[in-house]
Amino acid sequence: MSVWAILVAAGRGERLGLDQPKAFAKLGEDPLLAEPLRRLEESSWVDAIVLVAPPGWEEPAILLTEELGCGKVNACVPGGETRADSVRAGMAEVPADAVVVLVHDAARPLVTDAVIERVLAPLSEGWDGAVPGLPVADTLKRVGPDGTITETVPREGLYGVQTPQAFPADVLRAALAAGGDATDCAALVEARGGRVTVVPGDPQLLKVTTADDLAKIAAWR
Ligand code: C5P
Repeated sequence: MSVWAILVAAGRGERLGLDQPKAFAKLGEDPLLAEPLRRLEESSWVDAIVLVAPPGWEEPAILLTEELGCGKVNACVPGGETRADSVRAGMAEVPADAVVVLVHDAARPLVTDAVIERVLAPLSEGWDGAVPGLPVADTLKRVGPDGTITETVPREGLYGVQTPQAFPADVLRAALAAGGDATDCAALVEARGGRVTVVPGDPQLLKVTTADDLAKIAAWR
């Protein structure tokens, strides 16, 4: 089975307030991107990697993969305006004989082999996709533009969903080709009637959004 990973790192990360993209924010001594790259490179489940870099940052991204000795990185392409477009750009580099595609956010640096194994397992049982998720712990409110709570949403059955997300390559390719936008790949597969399951996520797969998240992740490393 050949497993290709698409590592999407093309987000601007405006909330970090830096003058470079989030993927190049410092996590300890290294750019953030180094951590998930190293982990995917070392994963026994991943055969090849496509890196989707911030537009204009392909060269530093390639240099980084060389410095890290990431021999599994087959291509580095510029991302698009939206996350879905960035995944499409990455998918264009995945060969037709790939069996499984894992899509992972570079902004979630602490990806582990354990979670990769958990999302891959359901694919051999016929699922169209598997995503890591954690049950929502807080009480959920819908809030209007003026700050008034309009609804308390029952949290039963609600999950916060993370990456890496795994799909049979043909399923993800068709879902991306159908167009549309979504904040994760599973939504594109679901929209076409695909059956996607949730496996246990990992609190350490926190997505870097603010400087506080970077500090937290640096401490967990
Ligand atoms: O901004 P968001 O939370 O959607 O980002 C999730 C992941 O998608 C990040 O790793 C980010 O770099 C990536 N992304 C991308 N291209 C975009 C937007 C986000 O590769 N246009």
